[in-house]
Amino acid sequence: MADEQKPVVPSAPAAGAGPAVTTVTPAAAAAGAHAAKPAPAPRPSAAPIPDLAGKTTNAASPGGAAARTAAPAAAKAATRDPDDTSPLLTRRAWMGLAWGAFSAASAAALAATGRFMFPNVLNEPPQQFKAGFPNEYGVGVDERWKEKYGVWLVRTPEDIEQHASGFYSLSVTCTHLGCTPNYLSAENKFKCPCHGSGFRITGVNFEGPAPRPLERTRIVLAEDGQILVDKSRHFQRELGQWSDPEAFLKA
Ligand code: FES
Repeated sequence: MADEQKPVVPSAPAAGAGPAVTTVTPAAAAAGAHAAKPAPAPRPSAAPIPDLAGKTTNAASPGGAAARTAAPAAAKAATRDPDDTSPLLTRRAWMGLAWGAFSAASAAALAATGRFMFPNVLNEPPQQFKAGFPNEYGVGVDERWKEKYGVWLVRTPEDIEQHASGFYSLSVTCTHLGCTPNYLSAENKFKCPCHGSGFRITGVNFEGPAPRPLERTRIVLAEDGQILVDKSRHFQRELGQWSDPEAFLKA
């Protein structure tokens, strides 16, 4: 049949004839849908991969297969993709961390227990001490026990309370705010350096902010004839306690 439609094969355009015109029939378009797909671009040839001996291989070479598998693994281990969300530490690393934390906690608990077994010990001087024999003292203020035991021993020919000769022991703690006064022999008084309180050698306050006299401590004669000072018991003049027999040692 002269009118039968024949598929038209595209022909190359003749030089200078303008763009080629291709006529495709509907049947041919349906049948050749797949054939009209553009062919995939050719793959670039594999880059040479250096092997351990320094030789280069590529995918086609005999050693290329091993290099293909080893090289990406090494590269992956060396650099980490920022999008990689896999765990940062291995299981072994986690176990090491856990053991380290456990050991540190155990050591801290052990140290706390040890500290509990050895509490703070306050090394205060004993409350009682023997101050020697009465004949070792002259009249006046003796400062030999001030630093070690915190008292002055005073020998007087006549006490203002007991009206007798003998000894009394004065605490070195200022009755204002607790500083330690100094004995000023030239003025025969105790003077507190903190706020200026002054005390006579009897212990009575007479200047500055101190509200009351210095306190006396218990003083008796020990069995061996020495003076025994006992700081566990104090006597306050404003309470009438200086008249207590143990607030003064007659001698
Ligand atoms: S503490 Fe002694 S005067 Fe204030």
